[in-house]
Amino acid sequence: MKFFVDTANLDQIAEAQDLGILDGVTTNPSLMAKEGISGEANVINHYKAICKLVDGDVSAEVISTDFEGMIREGEALAQLDDKIVVKVPMIKDGVKAIRYFTDNSIKTNCTLVFSAGQAILAAKAGATYLSPFIGRVDDISWDGMELIEQISNIYALQGFSTEILAASIRNPLHIVKAAEAGADVCTCPLSSILGLLNHPLTDIGLAKFLADHQKSSN
Ligand code: E4P
Repeated sequence: MKFFVDTANLDQIAEAQDLGILDGVTTNPSLMAKEGISGEANVINHYKAICKLVDGDVSAEVISTDFEGMIREGEALAQLDDKIVVKVPMIKDGVKAIRYFTDNSIKTNCTLVFSAGQAILAAKAGATYLSPFIGRVDDISWDGMELIEQISNIYALQGFSTEILAASIRNPLHIVKAAEAGADVCTCPLSSILGLLNHPLTDIGLAKFLADHQKSSN
């Protein structure tokens, strides 16, 4: 399973890259706004800065919701760097845009996916990645992980090559469960990735090893 970090924060992206486990980055308009990035030129420069930091795919989301607008924005984004993946919402014009980008060798990430039916449409349009939002499904008391499992079964059965990118990850257990459910990629906040490190027995064991080493060195 690939690891993407789900942020537009350059320090966090650099820290994740430095760990040696990073395969890419996802952003969205809310994450860009959280970093105070606004205005076309600043947004473009920020994507360029992210691409410089990372070895892997960088999802950049279109703002337009009509076909022509998405194509215009997506083509401009794709020209910034080979790493750019154009992130397109799961709406009717979005499906058409994904088909267009696929036919023109531009990688896509179909976002705001909440059902298996939407997952089938995105795969039929040739999306590179599909982003089902686990946390937001859980937020309304449905089962986000069940959705990943269902899509994973359908894609395997039907031979779709679109990669399942588990998104809206809220904690380390989501990452483990998404891996079990068949996600190809997990995009996570850095805190959830670092949370995977934690186990009290590791801390206790290390403290004991170091104490014993200290005793035997005296
Ligand atoms: C990533 O591609 C998504 O935009 C993101 O994971 C959404 O996460 P959220 O539901 O925590 O906002």
